[in-house]
Amino acid sequence: MIIAIASDHGGFELKKVIKQYLSERKIKYVDLGTHSSESVDYPIYGKACAESVASGRADMGIVICGTGIGISIAANKVKGIRCGLCTSVEMAKLTRQHNNANMLAMGGRTTSDELAIAITEAFLDTEFEGGRHKRRTDMLDDMI
Ligand code: RB5
Repeated sequence: MIIAIASDHGGFELKKVIKQYLSERKIKYVDLGTHSSESVDYPIYGKACAESVASGRADMGIVICGTGIGISIAANKVKGIRCGLCTSVEMAKLTRQHNNANMLAMGGRTTSDELAIAITEAFLDTEFEGGRHKRRTDMLDDMI
């Protein structure tokens, strides 16, 4: 599995934490930026990460901005992307089980390092339930 990960400046520090976690689990990742805490525009990084997942270059994506809101909005504008903004472990499990989310968004200014790691773990380790949820995710995928 390859994870594409990206952030703006608001998510730059948390991205380092998540990359360390992925390394410890020996999960491959590609970091699509940003590469410093200098102010940048989150749509650029949300789009780049989403396109990596949508094209199949990466299996899943993780995006981080200050709140996770802007960068998740950007990611969800790319066809084939279902990006869930998660602020709890329960949300991370449910966005995999019910939404078959292929991208996780988090807020670097709103989520502690410890919680973000637990959210990432739940996201990566939870399977889609399919069934009635597949009909709904198909409807989402038909929208763009
Ligand atoms: C950048 O200041 C901030 O607006 C961004 O990181 C994010 O929180 C937007 O949703």
